[in-house]
Amino acid sequence: MNIPCWPQADEREAELLRMVLESPQWGGFHPFIDEFERSFAAYQHSSHGISAFNGTVTLELALDVLGIGPTDEVIVPAISFVSTAAVVSRVGATPVFVDIEPRSFNVDPARVREALTPRTKAVIAVHFGGAMCEIEELNQICREHGLALLEDAAHAQGAEWSGRRAGSFGIAGSFSFQNGKVLSSGEGGMLVTSDEGFAERARSIANCGRQAGRSFYEHYRVGTNFRITAFQAAVLLAQFERLPEQIARRTANVKLLKGLLDEVRQITWQEQPAAVTQNPFYLLLGRLGGSISRDGFCRILSDGGVPCTPFYPHTLYENPAYREAACRVMPCPVAKDCIRDAFWLPHRVLLADEDTIRQIAEVIRNAARGAQRSGVPEVAAAEPIR
Ligand SMILES: Cc1ncc(COP(=O)(O)O)c(C=O)c1O
Repeated sequence: MNIPCWPQADEREAELLRMVLESPQWGGFHPFIDEFERSFAAYQHSSHGISAFNGTVTLELALDVLGIGPTDEVIVPAISFVSTAAVVSRVGATPVFVDIEPRSFNVDPARVREALTPRTKAVIAVHFGGAMCEIEELNQICREHGLALLEDAAHAQGAEWSGRRAGSFGIAGSFSFQNGKVLSSGEGGMLVTSDEGFAERARSIANCGRQAGRSFYEHYRVGTNFRITAFQAAVLLAQFERLPEQIARRTANVKLLKGLLDEVRQITWQEQPAAVTQNPFYLLLGRLGGSISRDGFCRILSDGGVPCTPFYPHTLYENPAYREAACRVMPCPVAKDCIRDAFWLPHRVLLADEDTIRQIAEVIRNAARGAQRSGVPEVAAAEPIR
């Protein structure tokens, strides 16, 4: 099966990396960093970009800037990568886990409303797999209750709602450029924001408490060092040139694949609100119904050469960490169902050529036929997306 590998690089990455190597600045003050911050923030329809060494510290930085800490609660979805919740705990606040919607895998705004208390200070909204969540409704809830809305847009480079890009709705949006992401430098992250004061504080904290235009050895805040290297910026600039074309290819392939699988009723693909005008398709998510064994289905796909992950093994609050760490858990029946019946294909599958997409459809069709509960052992075929 001719499925592209990920990450991908060509002469362009090598050219920009060589420029860094031959320069006297390999660290966080090379002009490539400023160039990438400006270009990526503008692409996400935001005025400022503050890069950092991954998409976990960018979330932590945002909570720090917002002054969130002990006694505060932050609402997070029960389904996400662990960082969405762990950063809340790391700043001493309490994550409040709420359920997701059954079709979109994204946080359910009605469940967010139910979870509000006088201690609630913020909501972290994840655009899961690249499909934007109900961002306008969440914005409305946050406005009504004086809460900060932080977008965890780790999956959502290029994601768009009515022509407006992810990260530009909340006070800030946090992106990850980790190895498996659609824009990657192995590790990396960025906060985007259009709030001048937020940007100034975030940039200062991430750069040892310095202030723009002031002396290098004057530190105005107790900051830290989250700067990326010029090597990361060089790779990101090159990757960024390909992103629009890759999004277009994945979008076309999702249409083709779903069309070819139209008659396979046992699969319900992730739905997105009608207002979504672009999805980068970091993940192609689905749920299996009827008598299909999800783990058997994933095993048949993997054996057939189609990488497939049988979703997360548990909700965020069922991680061992949250047996100890303080949290509040709202009822999450949908999240628990998804743990049993959902799966995803990574975005590299969607970069394949048309013939390969047709072969993939055949493997999926056969898997849906073959994975009846009685026939296939329930063994997970997990392929982590890292
Ligand atoms: C939803 C979500 N948030 C945050 C992160 C953390 O990003 P990073 O791995 O760059 O720290 C990830 C990483 O996969 C993620 O999927």
